[in-house]
Amino acid sequence: MHLRILVAVVSMVALGAASAQPESHCEKSCGNVHIRYPFGIGEGCYYNSYFNVDCVHYPGNSTLYLANKTTNLIISDMSTVTSDLEIMMFVANDCYNSSGLAYYLDTSLTMGRLGSNFQVSTENKFFAVGCDTHAYFIGKLGNETDGTGCISRCASSSRIIDGSCSGVGCCEIAVPEGMSAVNISLSSYDYHKDVLEFNPCSYGFFVKEGMYNFSTNDLRDFPRERMPMLLDWSIGNLTCSSSSKDVGNFICKGNSKCNTSYTGPGYRCVCNPGYEGNPYLEYPDGCKNINECAGINDCLHKCIDTNGSYICKCRKGYSGNGRKSGSGCTADQSMVIKLAVVSAAAAIFLIVFVNSLYFGLKKRKLMLLREKFFRQNGGIMLQQRISRDKGSHDQAKVFTIEELKRATDNYDESKIIGKGGFGTVYKGVLSDNRTVAIKKSKLPDQTESQIEQFINEVVILSQINHRNVVKLIGCCLETEVPLLVYEFISNGTVYDHIHNKGKSSAITWDIRLRIAKGTAEALSYLHSAASVPIIHRDVKSMNILLDDSYVAKVADFGASRLIPVDQVELATIVQGTLGYLDPEYLQTNQLTDKSDVYSFGAVLAELLTGKKVLSFDRPEEERNLVKIFLSSLKDGRLFQVLDEQLQQNEDHNEIIKVSKLAARCLVVKGDERPTMKEVAMELEGILASKIQKHPWVEHTLNEGEGEYLLKEPPNAYEFTQTTSASSSTFDSMRKHTILPIASGR
Ligand SMILES: *[C@@H]1O[C@H](CO)[C@@H](O)[C@H](O)[C@H]1NC(C)=O
Ligand SMILES: *[C@@H]1O[C@H](CO)[C@@H](O)[C@H](O)[C@H]1NC(C)=O
Ligand SMILES: *[C@@H]1O[C@H](CO)[C@@H](O)[C@H](O)[C@H]1NC(C)=O
Ligand SMILES: *[C@@H]1O[C@H](CO)[C@@H](O)[C@H](O)[C@H]1NC(C)=O
Ligand SMILES: *[C@@H]1O[C@H](CO)[C@@H](O)[C@H](O)[C@H]1NC(C)=O
Ligand SMILES: *[C@@H]1O[C@H](CO)[C@@H](O)[C@H](O)[C@H]1NC(C)=O
Ligand SMILES: *[C@@H]1O[C@H](CO)[C@@H](O)[C@H](O)[C@H]1NC(C)=O
Ligand SMILES: *[C@@H]1O[C@H](CO)[C@@H](O)[C@H](O)[C@H]1NC(C)=O
Ligand SMILES: *[C@@H]1O[C@H](CO)[C@@H](O)[C@H](O)[C@H]1NC(C)=O
Repeated sequence: MHLRILVAVVSMVALGAASAQPESHCEKSCGNVHIRYPFGIGEGCYYNSYFNVDCVHYPGNSTLYLANKTTNLIISDMSTVTSDLEIMMFVANDCYNSSGLAYYLDTSLTMGRLGSNFQVSTENKFFAVGCDTHAYFIGKLGNETDGTGCISRCASSSRIIDGSCSGVGCCEIAVPEGMSAVNISLSSYDYHKDVLEFNPCSYGFFVKEGMYNFSTNDLRDFPRERMPMLLDWSIGNLTCSSSSKDVGNFICKGNSKCNTSYTGPGYRCVCNPGYEGNPYLEYPDGCKNINECAGINDCLHKCIDTNGSYICKCRKGYSGNGRKSGSGCTADQSMVIKLAVVSAAAAIFLIVFVNSLYFGLKKRKLMLLREKFFRQNGGIMLQQRISRDKGSHDQAKVFTIEELKRATDNYDESKIIGKGGFGTVYKGVLSDNRTVAIKKSKLPDQTESQIEQFINEVVILSQINHRNVVKLIGCCLETEVPLLVYEFISNGTVYDHIHNKGKSSAITWDIRLRIAKGTAEALSYLHSAASVPIIHRDVKSMNILLDDSYVAKVADFGASRLIPVDQVELATIVQGTLGYLDPEYLQTNQLTDKSDVYSFGAVLAELLTGKKVLSFDRPEEERNLVKIFLSSLKDGRLFQVLDEQLQQNEDHNEIIKVSKLAARCLVVKGDERPTMKEVAMELEGILASKIQKHPWVEHTLNEGEGEYLLKEPPNAYEFTQTTSASSSTFDSMRKHTILPIASGR
């Protein structure tokens, strides 16, 4: 009795002392959704403002919104605060009539508002539904902005199959891990002009896996305004180990702890084993002991509940541990005891024996698994290829798991040098002291032919020896996902150098020109000089690395495709990065080397302007850099969009030449773009004449050229720029899809 009272006082004191606890007046529910801390309505009720929710009372119902009504995100289930939050997410739509976009759902004020503690759970899928539809989402991945999406098209309603989301009428993609502040965007190529009759709208939405089956009827009129979706949320920005040291702010309350399997960012709490409840609240509202004796338990005779567990007892005259799964309860007899001792000894022996057998088997199983992955990843094929190509000195090396584990200190977090939705890159040191970058990709299921392609790429890429291409040293195939080992490039990406304020001033016009030339040469080499033409497919500033002397190195051939010599074009699933993606390729799915030329043009524009190719921070009509760049050039306003540093540069002539070259690369019709070889030669020419000239000689502008920087447009320059098809997005043609395939990813 006494004990009880004492404890009650102690816990009351503790409650008073705890700062991050909801006050007693806080609302407990909204409609039929229970509100659970750290979520709460109004100050004093939530953990921090990100967990503020709002209950809106309508006649007939009450609806709980995440943040507030403007987010349009309705919370549908909060029953367990230890896992993801279920919300009803709106279905984004763009609807057309014969005169163009008729109406659309404004999605701009939604998830972008939530902090990075709210991420799209990977248990969702993203869907696009429509016959002239590109749906995508852009969000924050770490401190980068990244996006992905898919394209769905259909010419007539006859080829569409209910339940199939493979790009005809409907497409679906997985959600990369760690995406927060996501915006959904939709666009169309042709205003649904040819399909208006049976599909006036484009739809895009996230939905909990398994909760949506595509139906042909959805094209005519999507039946639901909202879809259930899971949001992964967490507290703060620290990991479990560092957060528990931060005693004052540690939010996991009595009988709970930090969930160490949750990978963050931030952390989540869980009740200790044997407890249940809300780990973010202090006892007695928080984690409470589970009375195991009241439910099904392991006791044979008597069950005694304890905090966090229970014990079993045998009745008088019996002994044993009392558990059904253990020794149970046996009648006390001296003889029996002796026997028991002997049999216990035997049992111990047996346990030791079985254990060692078990671990032996486990080890063998592990080896078999490695062998399986090795085969599955095409190891045998690769070995054959390597022995066939014996003699050529540059060969892919096949690494073992152990070698790479040693090189990266067992994939230590401190060795991570890059992380994205598609994989992780580690820095490692091989036994021969070479520093390498090891890429661990995420790779969906693959077929035999895709494996063959992957192996092909490994073999061929490892033989490429070009000053401006990051060298592939080898791979490891014994893991489920093949690991690729590349030469380590020390100075980061061009993207980083351009867009990081501290660094951009260091890359002068000279350096930019050299980066452009190096990249062009690498691509030209891949397109023509290599034994089999290779199309990079994902040319972007983030895939161009720099070494210490700013020499450009093209990287990431994960998406690349080899093109057999007798095939100039290759029909493939569209892949690339938003903002850099060739509009023609999007329309036709025909991959040619000119797609790389377009992407390179976008990189040139980025080098010239210092602006990101796609930025939601810019006003709607200026989101797409290619569009701004081309129109500025056309209107003679180039000077206004140039990087500040270049505005002060005196090499106007060169800047104009490079800008015009970029514009030619960015022509919509692939055939009219120059080849990479021509581009490389032109850049080389510009650079060569620069070296001949003395930097202090004043340049006279060629006739007409000054106009690009200054005033009225010369109508001599024509652009076949595509028209924007959707008000809710930037330029209609530039997008990105992700592919269910993939050799290197
Ligand atoms: C609640 O009522 C409002 C207005 O009557 C309505 O728009 C909304 O769809 C209702 N919500 C639910 C979940 O029934
Ligand atoms: C809704 O929440 C956002 C941020 O969470 C805030 O900026 C905005 O002012 C809020 N609107 C209202 C009406 O409270
Ligand atoms: C198409 O929709 C727009 C905007 O709602 C409207 O102004 C226009 O009249 C519509 N055109 C036709 C042909 O219905
Ligand atoms: C999402 O859209 C909002 C409003 O347009 C914008 O402020 C935000 O930066 C966007 N988020 C991303 C990741 O682009
Ligand atoms: C990203 O954030 C980390 C710290 O969270 C920082 O060390 C790194 O420099 C940032 N990267 C960029 C490109 O801003
Ligand atoms: C989707 O179809 C599958 C198989 O036909 C079915 O098991 C599942 O319940 C359906 N899901 C929905 C949300 O209709
Ligand atoms: C982590 O959160 C704290 C407090 O909210 C903030 O001061 C700090 O800047 C954050 N750190 C990072 C790396 O975002
Ligand atoms: C801990 O986190 C992991 C990963 O998110 C999750 O699978 C697991 O269920 C969590 N543990 C508990 C007890 O909730
Ligand atoms: C179990 O926990 C309760 C509440 O914290 C406490 O009153 C009780 O003494 C504990 N029992 C044991 C055996 O520790």
